[in-house]
Amino acid sequence: MSSESTFTKATVVEALSQVKDPDIGKPLTDLGMVKSVSIDGSDVSAEIYLTIAGCPMKNKLVEDSRTAIEAIEGVGRVTVTTDVMNDEQRRELRKRARGGADEPEIPFSKPGCTTRVYAVASGKGGVGKSSMTVNIATALAVKGLNVGVLDADIYGHSIPGMLGSDDRPYQVDDMIMPPQAHGIKMISIGHFIDGNSPVVWRGPMLHRAVQQFLADVFWGDLDVLLLDLPPGTGDIAIAVAQLIPNAELLIVTTPQMAAADVAERAGSISQQTHQRVAGVIENMSYLVMPDGSRQQIFGEGGGEIVAQRLSRITGCHVPLMGQVPLDPALREGGDDGKPLAMSSPTSQTGAVLNAIADQLMHRRDSLAGKSLGLGVAP
Ligand SMILES: Nc1ncnc2c1ncn2[C@@H]1O[C@H](COP(=O)(O)OP(=O)(O)OP(=O)(O)O)[C@@H](O)[C@H]1O
Ligand SMILES: [Mg+2]
Repeated sequence: MSSESTFTKATVVEALSQVKDPDIGKPLTDLGMVKSVSIDGSDVSAEIYLTIAGCPMKNKLVEDSRTAIEAIEGVGRVTVTTDVMNDEQRRELRKRARGGADEPEIPFSKPGCTTRVYAVASGKGGVGKSSMTVNIATALAVKGLNVGVLDADIYGHSIPGMLGSDDRPYQVDDMIMPPQAHGIKMISIGHFIDGNSPVVWRGPMLHRAVQQFLADVFWGDLDVLLLDLPPGTGDIAIAVAQLIPNAELLIVTTPQMAAADVAERAGSISQQTHQRVAGVIENMSYLVMPDGSRQQIFGEGGGEIVAQRLSRITGCHVPLMGQVPLDPALREGGDDGKPLAMSSPTSQTGAVLNAIADQLMHRRDSLAGKSLGLGVAP
């Protein structure tokens, strides 16, 4: 006897509306990704559209869809198959993913955008910008925030390695889906060039590259976006300031006075660009000796001095957010793609990094910065 099913197509579609595309973060049903549903007795077949052939998320999409359908009461055998979208469907999906916008625009500079953007900058190279970026990013991701990292160091591009992913971005229509590592979306110029060939780009091209990374990459609803800038006060820093005027600067320095002087210069660029300086991080502050004492390899006081000078220059309090020890484990974490803040949060260095991340913690739906619309009591 072929039993009457206790559920309908609408029940199955409803179940699939609980499944989100892992990259876009929106329900399959909203993205036009459910091609068909058919019911035969208690058996269900569903066909899901992939954005591109060989979509890296194919298995996850199929499994998530199957799990959602199997959870419906009375469902028997579940078959989930896939098909690939055509160009027209991809264009439509891109539009829906962008919330109806036709042309790529930079979401972070739009009024009302509540993503907090931090540009990690320094005067000198090699002071630990990229290391601080990935550690802060993972610390915030572990706390449940949606975090993105843009490797804006067009010449250096070390972020993918430090986050431990060699996944490539893929393209859906003209939208670039960034790879993810430790739950963090990231994009790097390294993703767009072959091997280790050096990039020789001048101002306008750099500007265009940063703009593309900001506008064409599908970042989704981020709480925090971290931009790892190249050292100095060059074209990229200016491009970022023009493209996202509300990006705040995070200045990294070592304790050394010479480094502090150039760090101050990098920070004082905020005067011309009218950017806020969120704080100063002093890196490589001291080495903890086996007996627990601290050896100040690079001198002392650089971070404090930069914070004081930038406070004076900008007229706003610029805090010294933390002093990060010189720690071989931090370098190893970077080399292995497992940032220390995430893999060893309670170690001495891990705790300092997490305390810095706490000061940068921001959820896009928090009330901070929003008008509460409270009237003055009569
Ligand atoms: N606190 C630390 N303890 C030990 N090693 C560190 C520390 N901070 C950074 N390093 C190491 O120092 C090197 C330079 O760090 P990093 O690449 O983060 O600097 P950067 O400022 O991004 O450099 P660049 O200007 O070249 O982009 C890396 O090998 C990193 O692992
Ligand atoms: Mg770097």
